[in-house]
Amino acid sequence: MYEKVVLTFIFVFLLIISYSIFMGTLDIRSYFFPHLKSPTLEPAPCSPDPPLRVYMYDLPRRFNVEMITHRTASESPVTVKDWPPWPDNWGLKKQHSVEYWMMGSLLHEGEDGESREAVRVFDPEFADAFFVPFFSSLSFNSHGHTMTDPATEIDRQLQVDVMEFLTKSKYWQRSRGRDHIFPMTHPNAFRFLRNQVNDTIQVVVDFGRYPKGMSNLNKDVVSPYVHVVDSFTDDEPEDPYEARSTLLFFRGRTFRKDVCLADC
Ligand SMILES: *[C@@H]1O[C@H](CO)[C@@H](O)[C@H](O)[C@H]1NC(C)=O
Repeated sequence: MYEKVVLTFIFVFLLIISYSIFMGTLDIRSYFFPHLKSPTLEPAPCSPDPPLRVYMYDLPRRFNVEMITHRTASESPVTVKDWPPWPDNWGLKKQHSVEYWMMGSLLHEGEDGESREAVRVFDPEFADAFFVPFFSSLSFNSHGHTMTDPATEIDRQLQVDVMEFLTKSKYWQRSRGRDHIFPMTHPNAFRFLRNQVNDTIQVVVDFGRYPKGMSNLNKDVVSPYVHVVDSFTDDEPEDPYEARSTLLFFRGRTFRKDVCLADC
């Protein structure tokens, strides 16, 4: 008698389970393979539409272009009219020039009808992200080369001043910088206060020097050294995704100086 009841119970239980799997109400795959996510949840691999709205802080020129022009200018931020060209003979410094090109592209408003991945907004209330136009790599290269160089003090002071400026901003306070973007391609960029910007989105060339809590793939962006990867200029078709027969990608490295450029 009891046997019958138990068997019936097991039968009904199995019936319910197989019915649920059949109807899709029980996702057994995610139970056994918790890392397998349903592909429909992945974001589409294309540029954002509408474009990302970026607010750029107004920083005095000593934080950016003054390190290129060496002209002591006013406290007013640089504009597209007095944006300096990148110096031709700056070979080595160019490898860290991502900060220069990012700022320049935000200043440049774009031609009519040009589609853009990111546009500058002047009201921080409408921003999706905040760009900090401090050339931290160039600052290290210009002011802070050796640890004992007295000019290092200028590099340190700029970092202190940037943080003082940001921590007063309610947008920084709101997110502890999580939606703030810092280009920091030189491994020594922002070295004095780097652990105050742990939460920010950093543009780096690799993760060789910093602990995971400070810099990692979940939040940061890896950009190649400018001299390592040639520009791909012919990238304007209407539907680049379909039109491309070649996949271009940057094969970054996890560790600095562990790079083979010739055949790998
Ligand atoms: C930033 O991250 C590093 C590494 O995880 C950690 O040692 C440091 O305490 C963090 N700094 C702050 C201010 O949280």
